[in-house]
Amino acid sequence: MNSSFSDGLGRKIDYLRISVTDRCNLKCDYCRPSSIGQPPPMCNMLKFRDLLRLVSIFAALGTQKFRITGGEPLVRKGVLGFIRQVGRTPGVKQVALTTNGLFLARMAAPLKEAGVKIVNISLDSLQAKKYAAITGADMLPEALNGVEAALKAGFDAVKINMVVMRGVNDDEVEDFARLTIDNRAQVRFIEYMPATPSAWTREKYLAMDQVMERVSALGSMAPEAKAQWGGPAKIYKLAGAKGEVGFISPVSSHFCDSCNRLRLTADGSLLQCLFSLEKLALAPMLAGGASDQQIAQAIAEHARVKPAVRDMETYAQDMGKSMMGVGG
Ligand code: 5AD
Repeated sequence: MNSSFSDGLGRKIDYLRISVTDRCNLKCDYCRPSSIGQPPPMCNMLKFRDLLRLVSIFAALGTQKFRITGGEPLVRKGVLGFIRQVGRTPGVKQVALTTNGLFLARMAAPLKEAGVKIVNISLDSLQAKKYAAITGADMLPEALNGVEAALKAGFDAVKINMVVMRGVNDDEVEDFARLTIDNRAQVRFIEYMPATPSAWTREKYLAMDQVMERVSALGSMAPEAKAQWGGPAKIYKLAGAKGEVGFISPVSSHFCDSCNRLRLTADGSLLQCLFSLEKLALAPMLAGGASDQQIAQAIAEHARVKPAVRDMETYAQDMGKSMMGVGG
């Protein structure tokens, strides 16, 4: 058992993001634009049994925090039982979930009961028409009901993630920030990254300092201390607010120095970085009878050569890449 799992530059790797499916009930352009075509067949997804084996191998290496992502993780059958098992794995300290919230009205309470501590909800508009235009689904009421259910369920934290896109939803920055006045939620503004290069344009990108300026015009903003595994957001509280606002700037000012994470894709490949070009295919090892020790060694070696800084430019040259199955 190794309580400190680090990469070759001494960055502690205590966080794994697991995409449990590349399927989603939404079609957001920045994640699965129509130009990408059909996702690969479902049978390429790792079985929960294999995922749990990897969770225990990672936990034994020293990874403590696990986030379940997708696609939309809640569309995968059996995900609740899987999440419960992740939380029960020795060494696992925190289980978090990223979701679009559409199923939370009925699943928030069971997820809390299954051991989820933190829920991040992706929500890019509070206007029905625009929500439908961004996601391809006229389901804003369902998403908002999901947010409400999450806030009621008693998670340690509920975070609302808004990808700010100029000319698309940037007129709603203030409305999102105002949500924190009466709700104990953390609203996080995220710079639009070229993670799905075919969908990204410079015109839609808006730098975080401009977003911050707009939010700070609403009232005085006091910086907040970071929670454990606080992540890359700069957190503030607006005067008199119950919740917090957070600003995440992966494009304008990277936070690679403090990167603590690896990513497992839905088809069982390990990524060193969201913008990695090199994958470690764990699925053949799992299927081919490799021992836990062999898999742990391969993971540690892959982590060792994690790049110092993300390389968005090289990555963005591949227009066939997309966020589906990587986990936002
Ligand atoms: N830029 C910024 N964030 C993104 N996400 C996915 N794609 C992008 C992108 N291109 C993140 C957001 C979103 C979640 C599904 O993944 O947080 O809400």
